[in-house]
Amino acid sequence: MADLTTNFIGITSPNPFWLASAPPTDKEYNVRRAFEAGWGGVVWKTLGEEGPPVVNVNGPRYGAIWGADRRLLGLNNIELITDRPLQTNLDEMTRVKKDYPDRALIASLMVPVNEDSWKSILDRVLETGCDGVELNFGCPHGMSERGMGSAVGQVPEYVGQVTEWCKKHSDLPVIVKLTPNITDVRKPAQAAKDGGADAVSLINTINSITSVNLDSFAPEPTIDGKGAHGGYCGPAVKPIALNMVAEIARTPSLAGLPISGIGGITTWRDAAEFMSLGAGNVQVCTAAMTYGFKIVQEMISGLSQFMDEKGFTSTDELVGRAVPNLSDWQHLNLNYVTKARIDQDLCIKCGRCYAACEDTSHQAISMSLDRTFEVIDAECVACNLCVNVCPVENCITMEELAAGTTDPRTGKTVQDDYANWTTHPNNPGTCAAE
Ligand SMILES: Cc1cc2nc3c(=O)[nH]c(=O)nc-3n(C[C@H](O)[C@H](O)[C@H](O)COP(=O)(O)O)c2cc1C
Ligand code: SF4
Ligand code: SF4
Repeated sequence: MADLTTNFIGITSPNPFWLASAPPTDKEYNVRRAFEAGWGGVVWKTLGEEGPPVVNVNGPRYGAIWGADRRLLGLNNIELITDRPLQTNLDEMTRVKKDYPDRALIASLMVPVNEDSWKSILDRVLETGCDGVELNFGCPHGMSERGMGSAVGQVPEYVGQVTEWCKKHSDLPVIVKLTPNITDVRKPAQAAKDGGADAVSLINTINSITSVNLDSFAPEPTIDGKGAHGGYCGPAVKPIALNMVAEIARTPSLAGLPISGIGGITTWRDAAEFMSLGAGNVQVCTAAMTYGFKIVQEMISGLSQFMDEKGFTSTDELVGRAVPNLSDWQHLNLNYVTKARIDQDLCIKCGRCYAACEDTSHQAISMSLDRTFEVIDAECVACNLCVNVCPVENCITMEELAAGTTDPRTGKTVQDDYANWTTHPNNPGTCAAE
């Protein structure tokens, strides 16, 4: 089995799977059980400043969306940072780190934006023996209204400033956790890097309202007839998180900034995708909340097996491997031509591909009286919609037309050279169009 030992900004863990700061890491009892189950590290539930702890609502704090099989796809929460006393958390962290020296233990922090507050919490946290700190600039509800969380993460100057303070007042590695509730995530990432951050982690949760109760006409979760926006996470946010991770990974001025990938990671495959797009390790919350701590065992065995199959001996060989293949639209090869192909042996004759293509795409699928569905190459633009709506995996695939053959739709010979929009004659910006 491939060795999954990971060194992330100098913090080693037996595998790249860390639990993200959230209810699974809220207390010693949970974290011990998580480590026994095999998690490589945890980011402890966010700590606030000394004083009376924050107060959570006493009604429901989650909303959700589900797939047709009732599988949880997206989770919305209105929970705050830890509502337990600071010293209780610190004592527990100290004990846990002592008993699990080989696991990563990161303290997540959120205090008001002033230097003394950050210095003071860093001094306290240092005594736990933790391996690093994560600055929670992401929480989008409750704390942001108090000038913390995403209210900081949305202002790159604040991100940079607080990062600088943390580097000044502590020798611990500093991970800056970014909010996705921003137009261009590269800006706060840059500010974090310029402020001296050792790494960024992303994403925290996305502003969301998951549903409205149509009897009470109140957003859900509903607290005494009222609802508030919450933070969205789980499998539904993975595409957004992957894109944000990739944006950072491929930006030259951010080159070399380590990334901890978070957002909807449920399987080893999700983790491998994040890592291939530049994440040095990953953090998980919703999957553990949905399926329990033992889900990490599937992640570990799946990733090890995948690495064996690929001949990778270290996760370093996976990290960033897909980044060079991430391009901008105008650089995609316009001479790459494909057509949809239906495997008649797999087809269950449901007709979804026909309805989709006929009504909303290019009328490129025919239906016979006996419900045989066939692609009309002369109409197929290769949009891939039919593949995505077909309920049978691999029943419809996209097949590349060989160079030298004629595309029946355009009547043009397929070229084997590469050509993109920047040189296309229809592009008003190219010389050929002048
Ligand atoms: C109930 C709940 C509480 C959370 N609390 C925190 C928190 O205290 N600090 C923090 O940085 N992130 C918090 N998060 C965000 C998670 O750490 C993570 O960034 C987010 O859930 C995306 O990962 P996922 O899709 O694997 O859940 C919380 C998430 C949930 C669901
Ligand atoms: S790829 Fe698009 S155009 Fe072609 S058959 Fe499928 S849905 Fe129709
Ligand atoms: S959607 Fe798939 S299974 Fe259904 S008719 Fe089309 S090819 Fe067959």
